[in-house]
Amino acid sequence: MEQPVQNRSAEPFRLVVLVSGGGTNLQAIIDAIEDGAIQNAKIACVISNNPEAYALERAKKHGIKACCIRPADFSEREAYDAALLSALQEETPDLIVLAGFLVIVPKIIIHAFEGRIINIHPSLIPSFCGKGYWGLHVHEAALARGVKVSGATVHVVDEGTDTGPILLQKAVEVREDDTPESLQRRIMEEAEWKLLPQAIRMFVETEGKA
Ligand code: GAR
Repeated sequence: MEQPVQNRSAEPFRLVVLVSGGGTNLQAIIDAIEDGAIQNAKIACVISNNPEAYALERAKKHGIKACCIRPADFSEREAYDAALLSALQEETPDLIVLAGFLVIVPKIIIHAFEGRIINIHPSLIPSFCGKGYWGLHVHEAALARGVKVSGATVHVVDEGTDTGPILLQKAVEVREDDTPESLQRRIMEEAEWKLLPQAIRMFVETEGKA
């Protein structure tokens, strides 16, 4: 029997965004899709490890499927890893975006989506990255060291912590009177919220279902 010809070009590039907190980077992605800066892509699902994450509310406000898979609900880490893997596989993502996701991504997930997971980190890697460097701690360490420039990095996720190939970086000036909070905010505004949508657009344009 003759099979109907599939029109793949009509299918948007599928993103799954993993979050843990406020979700301002998620919001930057949502805005970029809604205002057309990223075309032919949709957020299939937002997954949080934290039920209190405001990022979940942001997703719901925009009609995006959102769920929470909480490590504490599983007796063993392997069971959580398997549940997260299964939730991701169900969404058949073209790209998984870690947008402030504070759980170490397990190897089974990295291998299942090799080269298709990206992360935003709030410093110029290889400075202030790796174990223990997340959120405000990154900016506290940068100020304690007295750097004059910091910034943000988008990289592909590999088995290490913040060790994967760098895709994009943007430098941001550190000011004399900066606090960790003010530096975090400026790096978000001037770097993160621009770089992450830009990196996604690069993936959609080069690997999209055209
Ligand atoms: C962002 O600054 C992101 O770069 C950082 O957490 C914040 C999440 O903010 N991620 C890391 O530190 C990962 N190592 P958001 O929830 O408002 O997007």
